[in-house]
Amino acid sequence: MIKKGIILAGGLGTRMSPITKSVNKQLLPIYDKPLIFYPLSILMLAGIREILIIVNKGQTNQFKKVLKNGESFGVKIIYKEQKSPNGLPEAFIIGEKFIDNNGVALILGDNFFYAQSLTKTLQEATKLNKGAKVFLHPVKNPKLYGIATIKNKKIISLKEKPLSAKSNLAVTGLYFFDKNVVKLSKSLKPSKRKELEIIDLLNKYRKKNNLSAEFLGRGGAWLDAGSIDDYYDTTSFVSAIEKRQGFKIACLEEIALNKKWINKKDLGESIKFYGNCDYSRYLKEILF
Ligand code: G1P
Repeated sequence: MIKKGIILAGGLGTRMSPITKSVNKQLLPIYDKPLIFYPLSILMLAGIREILIIVNKGQTNQFKKVLKNGESFGVKIIYKEQKSPNGLPEAFIIGEKFIDNNGVALILGDNFFYAQSLTKTLQEATKLNKGAKVFLHPVKNPKLYGIATIKNKKIISLKEKPLSAKSNLAVTGLYFFDKNVVKLSKSLKPSKRKELEIIDLLNKYRKKNNLSAEFLGRGGAWLDAGSIDDYYDTTSFVSAIEKRQGFKIACLEEIALNKKWINKKDLGESIKFYGNCDYSRYLKEILF
């Protein structure tokens, strides 16, 4: 059973400079809430309540201002700073103490997921005891992502940003790993771009027949707010769905209340904390 999760919210956000020169990308708004709310909501929907957020050097306080220690939405958040981004598997080396020889989920701070029955799929994924699990979704431009080739729903090859791809199935930024992840991450060698690569880590599992895949399905959306265009597409998506349905995507307090991790009094505290805003008005609607 996986009970711990890491959000990798570091990175320089170079593709979104100059916007990201002074602000961490994950604190920028996706429509009506900071980007970090969305990956955090995914871990919460999976039932994960022990969370490590990895941020850039000197940025912990900015994140704490909005998320605090997670208590107001029923989770426990700790923070660790990363000196410089050296690739995704570094998260497991930085998080070694937090992971403490357990299985762990990793979600990238700029990844957005929205799909039918997602909660159920996520909860199933936390049952992983051995091996690793990835979530695959088709993309139009495979050159930009880690790409999986599959046969009978089994991954037969994995390549990071292939120049000519045999498949359009991207490995999304949500991963579940067993307790061997720290040891295996430490055994990785930096790639040509001088980073530890998540695909190399996943290949270690695959070669031992220990890698499984989930599919978000054709009706699902996976977006990453990495470039300016993707960032605004994600904002438009959230805005369109929220305005039409009246529900909010990634309202952390609503998720926590539904899971009975917080009570209505706690919700009242959050309304006071956020102040006079649309997000608070939504929380009030839930309250009454
Ligand atoms: C990273 C991973 C890649 C994955 C992508 C998902 O890419 O290396 O395998 O498909 O995240 O967002 P990067 O953000 O480093 O370009």
